[in-house]
Amino acid sequence: MRIILFTGKGGVGKTSISAASALRSAQMGHKTLVMSLDAAHSLSDSFDLDQRLLDHKKGALIQLEEKLWLQEVDVQEEIQRHWGEVYKYLAMLLNTSGLDEILAEELAILPGMEEVSSLLYINQYAREKAFDVIMLDCAPTGESLRFISLPTTLEWYMRKVFKVEKHLMKVMRPVMSTMYSVPLPDDSYFESIQSLYEKLEGVDKLLNDPTTTTVRLITNPEKIIIKETQRAFMYFCLYGLCIDAIVVNRILPPQVSDEYFTNWMNTQDRHLSQVEEYFTPVPIWKVNLFKDEIVGKEDLIHLAEALYADKDPTRVFYAESPYKFLKENRHYLVQIKLPFVSKADIDLSKSADELIIRIGNFKKNMVLPRRIAGARPSGAKVEGNTLTVFFETLEE
Ligand SMILES: Nc1ncnc2c1ncn2[C@@H]1O[C@H](COP(=O)(O)OP(=O)(O)OP(=O)(O)O)[C@@H](O)[C@H]1O
Ligand SMILES: [Mg+2]
Repeated sequence: MRIILFTGKGGVGKTSISAASALRSAQMGHKTLVMSLDAAHSLSDSFDLDQRLLDHKKGALIQLEEKLWLQEVDVQEEIQRHWGEVYKYLAMLLNTSGLDEILAEELAILPGMEEVSSLLYINQYAREKAFDVIMLDCAPTGESLRFISLPTTLEWYMRKVFKVEKHLMKVMRPVMSTMYSVPLPDDSYFESIQSLYEKLEGVDKLLNDPTTTTVRLITNPEKIIIKETQRAFMYFCLYGLCIDAIVVNRILPPQVSDEYFTNWMNTQDRHLSQVEEYFTPVPIWKVNLFKDEIVGKEDLIHLAEALYADKDPTRVFYAESPYKFLKENRHYLVQIKLPFVSKADIDLSKSADELIIRIGNFKKNMVLPRRIAGARPSGAKVEGNTLTVFFETLEE
């Protein structure tokens, strides 16, 4: 199965490009699902669907063509369905004053529920082999990052916090409930999290496997948007996702000759060369600004032609995983492709079997292969696009 994420800054063309890619994929014979991860859904508008059909099918799969399905997840309903017990407990907590510090911290860690609902579907469809390809129209960059960091966060929560907490609660609940002003979670809270976790098991492997999952970053030839694309590129690498194309959308075509646009044309030219410089060897696809907005099947077919010519959109166009584990003499090397970031912005630490990398507000707990986990970290360097962390072994 293939999973392709389309993301980028607000308004760059994510929805149109996901829709066009999905339509082309289905027309080439792949059983395709295009799913919206953005709470402000607009996929159905891009396909110009009848609102009555949507009201009727709210949140469910809608078949658009022989091989094409669309789904706009209804987050509120999903939260009720999957997070019933957890949600009830959290709501009660939030209504209780004097929130204990540890509990508050735990609340902050608990993964975003919107993202969980989409991941649940993806994992379910993958397990059922329901589709050949799932194309994801993601929310703007920041939220997409929360989405892809979630399996790591949840994994960490289950391994480190959940087990201890569940055990403690069993022993301590009778004593603690009289000591604390905050209500403590009961068994159903734990059962609920445990069952969610089981349903999500394996999704991190799917996302980190470049033969399954790739990300296409959509950008426009404008300074601020390209800056955000660079940041997004780096963070996706941090979470081990492979970016297989950069799409530069809304380029003014050469036939625009009105003097009013002269500066725009020059600026776009300059930024286009920069994009080449920044992101090569990842393939860069250029798409012109169309004569009008892109709405409905016919427009989407034209957009797909501009994007893919006669290529199959489900191909993996660039397959290098951002993580590499190597051995050199007595050292193990963990290499992570992290472009557009300086060493000063990276904070590294190691605890037990994991390497913890913090950049800005994002944290990646990378579980190390067993042979490296036992070794002593002996240095780190950033060279070119790559962070290398060295581990020293005692064995010969
Ligand atoms: N190459 C293009 N030429 C003309 N219009 C375009 C092009 N790409 C996108 N558009 C139009 O720009 C608008 C925004 O596009 P779209 O909804 O795909 O962006 P988005 O990144 O999904 O936005 P949001 O962040 O709000 O979800 C739409 O009206 C769409 O039809
Ligand atoms: Mg959109």
